Amino acid sequence: MQKNSIKNLAVSGLVTAAVAFGSVAQAEGNSVDKSTFNGWKLYKRQRCETCHGPTAEGGAAFPNLVVALKNRTKEEFTTIVLNGKGNMPAFQGNKAVVEGIDDLYTYLKGRSDGTVPAGELTEAQ
Ligand code: HEC
Repeated sequence: MQKNSIKNLAVSGLVTAAVAFGSVAQAEGNSVDKSTFNGWKLYKRQRCETCHGPTAEGGAAFPNLVVALKNRTKEEFTTIVLNGKGNMPAFQGNKAVVEGIDDLYTYLKGRSDGTVPAGELTEAQ
């Protein structure tokens, strides 16, 4: 019994921390919160989509980000996107990506968690 309540406390602590960092996507159908919506727009406009595909599921030479983000921390994600890796270009000189990195993470993490559907999104009012 005591073990359980400690576990619950730990879990709610994690959820609170994630919300505080603003990296949890909210979606109802294809209607999503502002951060997720911005991340989706960046994903398309900054050409992540060109390599990682319209649904973020990758392709022959490009990793599936829906799978990859299950095993990456936000810090690892940020480091890879800003510094580049292998054939992935560095985005540290791209102001829109640097400023929107949290939103990109929110969107892709939401895709990875299954909260955010593939395809066109609208911003919740
Ligand atoms: C020119 C093609 C290209 C573009 C554009 C591109 N990527 Fe990548 N990306 C790659 C390749 C190739 C890898 C694999 C790198 C490796 O592991 O050697 C990769 C890896 C990644 C990874 C790490 C995946 C893992 O293994 O955990 C993330 C996260 C990622 N990309 C996100 C993004 C985001 C976000 C954008 C847009 C801002 C983007 N990529 C744009 C080609 C691209």
